[in-house]
Amino acid sequence: MSKQLLVRPQKTPLHGVISVPGDKSISHRAVMLASLAEGTSIIRRWLPAGDTLATLQIIQNLGVNVQIDKRSDTAWDLTVEGRGLHGWQVPSQPLDCRNAGTGMRLLAGLLAGQSFPAVLDGSEQLRKRPMRRIIDPLSEMGAKIASENGRAPLAISPSPLHGIEYRMNVASAQVKSAVLLAGLYASGETRVYQPGPARDHTERMLQAMGVPVQTEGDWVILPAAPVGGWTLRPLDLTVPADPSSAAFPLVAAAIVPHSQITISSVGLNDTRTGILDMLRAMGAELTLHNEHISGGELLGDLTVSFSELHSANVSGHTVVRGIDELPIWSVATTQAAGVSQVSDAAELRVKEVDRISVLAGELRKLGVEMLETPDGFSVNGPLRLFGGEVDSHDDHRLGMSLAVAGLVTHGLTLVHDAGCIADSFPGFVDMMQSLGANMEWVEQ
Ligand code: S3P
Repeated sequence: MSKQLLVRPQKTPLHGVISVPGDKSISHRAVMLASLAEGTSIIRRWLPAGDTLATLQIIQNLGVNVQIDKRSDTAWDLTVEGRGLHGWQVPSQPLDCRNAGTGMRLLAGLLAGQSFPAVLDGSEQLRKRPMRRIIDPLSEMGAKIASENGRAPLAISPSPLHGIEYRMNVASAQVKSAVLLAGLYASGETRVYQPGPARDHTERMLQAMGVPVQTEGDWVILPAAPVGGWTLRPLDLTVPADPSSAAFPLVAAAIVPHSQITISSVGLNDTRTGILDMLRAMGAELTLHNEHISGGELLGDLTVSFSELHSANVSGHTVVRGIDELPIWSVATTQAAGVSQVSDAAELRVKEVDRISVLAGELRKLGVEMLETPDGFSVNGPLRLFGGEVDSHDDHRLGMSLAVAGLVTHGLTLVHDAGCIADSFPGFVDMMQSLGANMEWVEQ
């Protein structure tokens, strides 16, 4: 059954204090690394979304016991019985990552170091995404990975690994993490050069587990393992709220007149807060309170109020620090006075879908003229949007961006194929409704 989301023009302000579900990047990493620890890990507020549930299922298929306490539909507490770095069991079937690029790329790094063969596969959408970016460095480390044209399925065979010095040509946390995680099983030191501040959750979590990963300038260094190999200490972690999910209500409140909302305990890791800088550059009113460190990550409460926005340009490191938020930021640009422009964002073209051309095509249906460039886009606002029928193309972030755009149109908006929103944000519609947003599910 395909789910559709009906959005009506928002005539009243959005108001309230909300929390959004746990961080997707941290949730993937936590369950993977906890399964390899020596001992039992506790992971609170873990995100039960489509992408991370695929990773959890894979970890269970690798023989790891996980007890699940379902605190709510959007936050689970996991108790993971780690089996040590070499304790995974041979899977009896291909491992299905569904739509999750992070799941596939990070698991490829870990599976490359195992003493058994495994196949990583995923949805039709994931089978289209580039995997050469991890196959190449992992092969350089000695991994044996068979694929057709650098796409999933990936057949990984056991082979000894050695550390390498790898220069990434795009600032990708997934590539960096795949190499570092394979490095746990490699002889010698592993060094990764990053051309921009890719998110550093893998490094922080490994440090918390007793592996002294270091950062020196643009290099991330995993030292050679001690005699007998690395031992990972179990995790005791509360997953911060995902800043990438917070971005949707944040932008909604910034563009719906007279709104004011607060989102509590949001992850504010500097590699993830590009969206705050992008919104501030447009004149959005954002304030942070209760900033504190928990589990090695900075958290805080975020209040945003509606204000008249003006255009801004985004490029370079801000793009890396907010790559997943550019679709929802583009919705803010439709309400901002002047020409807003994004460059250095060619990576958007290899996400769940080509997020530049698909977004331009779908927003056009709502009256937005978004001009595409090879590495970005521009929008000349403010624009009067009209309602219409749009499609998520099975991309969760596009589905939510189009839903938020629907709030500032002058007609009904129907977002087709919107069930994918649960890939990262279960409870999105309930949460938006709790702020007073005019949106509801319709099933066909
Ligand atoms: C992620 C890294 C980013 C991001 C993705 C999650 C991660 O991808 O777009 O949604 O958890 O490592 P890249 O590292 O490929 O830029």
